[in-house]
Parts: sequence; structure tokens; C-alpha cells
Amino acid sequence: MNRADLPPAARVGDPLDGVDTPALLLDLDAFERNVARMQAAADAAGVALRPHAKAHKCPAIALAQVERGAVGICCQKVSEALPFVAAGVRDIHVSNEIVAPAKAALLARLALHARFSVCVDDAQQVELLASATAAAGSRLDVFVEINVGQDRCGVDGADAVQRLLDAIAAHGELRFAGLQAYQGSLQHLRGHAERRAVAARAAARAADVVAGLARAGVACPVVSGGGSGSVEFDLVSGVYTEVQPGSYVFMDGDYGRNEYTDSLRFEHALFLATTVISTGGGERIIVDAGLKSLAVDSGLPDVWGAAYDYVAASDEHGTLRPRGATTPLLPLGARLLLVPGHCDPTLNLHDELIGLRGSTVEAIWPVAARGLSR
Ligand SMILES: Cc1ncc(COP(=O)(O)O)c(C=O)c1O
Repeated sequence: MNRADLPPAARVGDPLDGVDTPALLLDLDAFERNVARMQAAADAAGVALRPHAKAHKCPAIALAQVERGAVGICCQKVSEALPFVAAGVRDIHVSNEIVAPAKAALLARLALHARFSVCVDDAQQVELLASATAAAGSRLDVFVEINVGQDRCGVDGADAVQRLLDAIAAHGELRFAGLQAYQGSLQHLRGHAERRAVAARAAARAADVVAGLARAGVACPVVSGGGSGSVEFDLVSGVYTEVQPGSYVFMDGDYGRNEYTDSLRFEHALFLATTVISTGGGERIIVDAGLKSLAVDSGLPDVWGAAYDYVAASDEHGTLRPRGATTPLLPLGARLLLVPGHCDPTLNLHDELIGLRGSTVEAIWPVAARGLSR
């Protein structure tokens, strides 16, 4: 026997209780409401929505987002973009910098099949992109990334942007497309008011750069940024013309712990189905989902709709405890749903996402960009 002989975890039409665990599930109703809600908010604000595919790595989800009105998607890595191009996504922004010639060559080749843009924050990256596109006979749109408070990638101030624009202008294959102004460290600040204040500072820094460029006679076609924790502020900032939220489609446990107002709120749509595989002779609750099926960097998963806490994870096991002295232990074979703490690295652990309508399997979607992190 080989891998191909493995029975599938689920088939379309199976009941939820028949899905082999651990299995990553998507509540299709909640997912579709999340996609529609974000699109409606972007449309109402007159801002383009370019959802980040690093959260889901799943072409079927990207196509659903584009069908609803997204202008394209973001990818964080060049290799990650490949399955999306193969699936027919025609507008992809690589929201990151690259310095390796092999990556630039792949990007330039991909740009023969779809409109691609990529970020720079150093003239050396511009030269690399110029040689790769010249060799491939393709064109690339280039975003200059500016630092709006995260102190990750990005240059500071309009003068630094202008120097990169001069470098870009020297190459006919490259076109300045706009600024990327992403502030990642604010996304999980819990308090709504605190997130609003930090998002306002990020937008103000981006606005300063746009104004500085305008004084030098340079128009900035697009200002792109924002994530699921800041998007409600970015949309009404008057600065961002495009937003890049990713996790909102799933609303993982960590995002669920943020404080929201009623204005723009998303629903948990991603669950990990797990089964009790041991009770230690009636003493414990041990489930079949551990570190190899769940990312715990943003906290242990929540147990959905049941009075138990997931208290410890090892590679293939999880330990649960009843919440409260009167809650009984669970019998062998009992099934539970977990809400993963962090969706992006959890998706990266799974080959497929099992879409449920109510409690019936309706779709099985490959997580085709899983593991593509170069
Ligand atoms: C550049 C960039 N844009 C957008 C996002 C999307 O953020 P989220 O999944 O938190 O909505 C990220 C996430 O890390 C990012 O790095």
C-alpha cells in the first residue's frame, strides 16, 4: 500500500460524525457570511479588497473571494502564489520583499501568466527584479513598503520612497504601483479603542508619505495595507485605497479574543474535529489532536460549545479538563470541535479543508499552497 491507498478523511455527503479525525473543517455558512460581510464593508467604503491568501492557502477560497468582488489576492511568498495562478487567480500582490535571484526568476515567470506586484524597501531589490523581468520578458508592478509602526520591513519617509522611485523609473519592465503600509503589531491589541488609536497613527504616517510625494509631483495610485484587526479603521481612514485582511474568513481563536464593536464582526468558521482516544481508565480526557494538527503559538484552542478546556498539547495528543467540578469526564470516542488559536499556521498543517453545510460534508478543498513557504 502507498499514500494513494489511504481512505479519505471524508467524502461529499458524509455526516460530520463520519469524518475521520483530526480533520480541519470549514463551516460554509459562517465562511460565506464572513466573505460577504467584508466585501460589503469594502464596497460601502469605496476601498478595494485584496484578501490575504496566507491565511487560507486554498485556491477555492481565493476564487470565492474574487467572485464576490475582491480585486485579487495577496500572497506572502512567491512559491505560495503558484497554486493560485494555476487555479486561475489573475491578480496577485506579493506583500513582501525578496532578495534571492531564484525567487525573482520565479516571480518574473509567474508574471507572464497573471498581473503581479511585489514590495521593495531597498534599491538592491529593484535591480534584482529588473534583471529577472528582463530575462523572462515580463513586467512587474512594484510597491514601495513604508514602515508605519511595526518596524518590520519598509522605509521611513517620502525621501526614502523617492530614492526607490528613481531606481524603479530606470527600468521599463517595472512600474511604481503604490505604497504598502501594513502595521501587523496592532492587529491583536485587544482593546477596540487601543487598536483604533494605533491604526490612526499608522494611517497618519502613510498619509505623510503620500503628501510628501504629492509635493514632489508624484501621484501614489494605491495605498495598500491593513489586516483583520485594523480593517474597520483602515476602511474609513481616507488613506488606504486597498485593504489586505486574511484571517477574517476563519476568525480564529486569537482574533476572537479581540474586542469588537457591532460594526464589523466576523464569525468563527474554522474548526478542528477531534476524538477522545483515551480516558486513562476513567481519569482523564485525551484527544487525537496535538501540535501536528494545531498551531498553538497564539494560545491553545478553545473547545467549541462544551464545558471543557484544552489544557496541554503534545505532538499527537491533547489533554482536556472539565470546566467545573460537576462536569463529567468524556467517554472514549466522544467527538469535539476545537477553534484553533491561529489559523495561518494551522492551515499549513493540513492537506485539505472539509466544508460542511450544517452537519453534512459539501466540499473538500485542497490546501494547495500548504508548505509553500519559499
Ligand atoms: C503584509 C500583510 N498583509 C495582510 C496580512 C493579513 O492579516 P490578517 O490575517 O491578520 O488579517 C498580513 C498578516 O500577517 C500581512 O503580513
